[in-house]
Amino acid sequence: TEKVEAVDNQKVSALRPHTADATGQEMTTDQGVKINDDQNSLRAGDRGATLLEDFILREKITHFDHERIPERVVHARGSGAHGVFKLYKPLSELTKAGFLNNTEIETPVFVRFSTVAGSRGSTDLARDVRGFAVKFYTEEGNFDLVGNNMPVFFIQDAMKFPDLVHAVKPEPDNEIPQAASAHDTFWDFISLMPESTHMIMWLMSDRAIPRSYRMMEGFGVHTFRFINARGESNFVKFHWKPMLGVHSVAWDEAQNISGKDPDFHRRDLWEAIESGAFPEWELGVQIIPEADEFKYEFDLLDSTKLVPEELVPVLPIGKMTLNRNPDNFFAETEQVAFHIGNIVPGIDFTNDPLLQGRLFSYTDTQLIRLGGPNFHEIPINRPISPSHNNQRDGFMRQRIDRGKTSYGPNSLGDNYPLQVKEEAGGFKSYQERIDARKVRARSDSFRDHFSQARLFYNSQSEPERNHMVDAFSFELGKVKSVAVRQRMVGILSLVDKSLAGEVAAALGLGVQEKLETPINRSLPADANPSDYEPIEV
Ligand code: HEM
Repeated sequence: TEKVEAVDNQKVSALRPHTADATGQEMTTDQGVKINDDQNSLRAGDRGATLLEDFILREKITHFDHERIPERVVHARGSGAHGVFKLYKPLSELTKAGFLNNTEIETPVFVRFSTVAGSRGSTDLARDVRGFAVKFYTEEGNFDLVGNNMPVFFIQDAMKFPDLVHAVKPEPDNEIPQAASAHDTFWDFISLMPESTHMIMWLMSDRAIPRSYRMMEGFGVHTFRFINARGESNFVKFHWKPMLGVHSVAWDEAQNISGKDPDFHRRDLWEAIESGAFPEWELGVQIIPEADEFKYEFDLLDSTKLVPEELVPVLPIGKMTLNRNPDNFFAETEQVAFHIGNIVPGIDFTNDPLLQGRLFSYTDTQLIRLGGPNFHEIPINRPISPSHNNQRDGFMRQRIDRGKTSYGPNSLGDNYPLQVKEEAGGFKSYQERIDARKVRARSDSFRDHFSQARLFYNSQSEPERNHMVDAFSFELGKVKSVAVRQRMVGILSLVDKSLAGEVAAALGLGVQEKLETPINRSLPADANPSDYEPIEV
């Protein structure tokens, strides 16, 4: 296919001064000294030892020695693209966010799709969740919508995230398996975590083996808030709907593709954009008035639940088009730093305990992954709006801040940036009323783990349900521990008896009527074990 001309936008132009092209240029060292020979080291005689003074050799090898940075602790394998977001109609009644009020502007975006469990070199076609992270470079600062291709999550509280990831990642003694959920530690954890049941139904469905990144839905997962100019709040759930529709591959196709082309999704996205077949998604929102916070049988703050579209329809608000491949994978796709905490005026958080923990985790991990507190200065991470404050210094500082003072209050310098009134666009957190005791606990409203898992199973067509039975049977068939298999069948029996029966038959097990109380060493010392038992609904 023919390559089309790359599309420009405000962010892409801002990146341009940072790009370099060596075509036709003279070779130099990093210090700008012209190089006469970069292929032979400096020796004491033709066959003699290499001299330590060879600064050209030292520079070349030193840089190479430091070329790797830590891969992301999760979502290590990904593919990125530039694009734009265009709004359909102003949403002033709902949010004061500028980019959601002006239909004239095209907001630049950078998107990174990813798998979760595998390392940077793993296959694209693993049965896994896919990350769907979008950085909107708005005129009021960066807004990151760091979502997945499934609308719910495995756990309700960020406190459990390290446990979940330690269970799903390769086992610690032999680092097997790479990029697959079919192993004992994963299913051991899941079978002890009834709250994961809904997510597991999605993970064992065709949604976990997409045909293309271009054919996936995306979800913000958590409930967020929209805030309008009058300071009123509505709850909001974000959805991305692909214009090409949602498509998956079958499991045997996925395994075949993994063997033949582990870059299948990466290649597909790259080639589509190169040839001008720009992928598009509609951004949709579900709006829930504050007054309806307690209207539903599930809790809006529980990330293992979705808001069924039959109850609250998805309102399309704009379209995202990915129209330009990155110039450099490392500089852009690897160094981009998404953070759920990057919000703009008009958008705010809720108390979802998973969301709240993520607010800490992303910056924390990026501080080590990207080498210190100045990673916001890496070109791909810079906002297109100006940024000024009194944060200074630190490893790899690029900006040269002028002026005598970097503290406030001060009376000596006039370089102290002005704070901005709310009416003029200064961010002010939503003043949610809180009157509560400090407790380490889980709300009772988070305890139904099966109704929506069943809803999902029932929403599947017969061939899709068969795929799920096959997926459970395949995955659990790889689990060595019979107790784990049995316990998992027990969990499935609380979702759907026939599903449990079919999986049990494939595994040569029976379905027990009552769940065995697992030996769960992770219960707090003073816990009442029955509080941790799944409740049948
Ligand atoms: C990375 C989504 C929960 C910690 C990511 C990425 C996505 C994502 C899309 C990849 C971003 C990229 O492409 O660079 C989600 C979703 C979650 C969730 C949708 C649940 C709704 C959590 C939780 C934690 C967490 C609970 C920790 C408490 C991380 C970390 C990274 C990451 C540390 C690596 C970031 C980096 O190195 O830049 N997540 N995640 N995530 N996530 Fe999450």
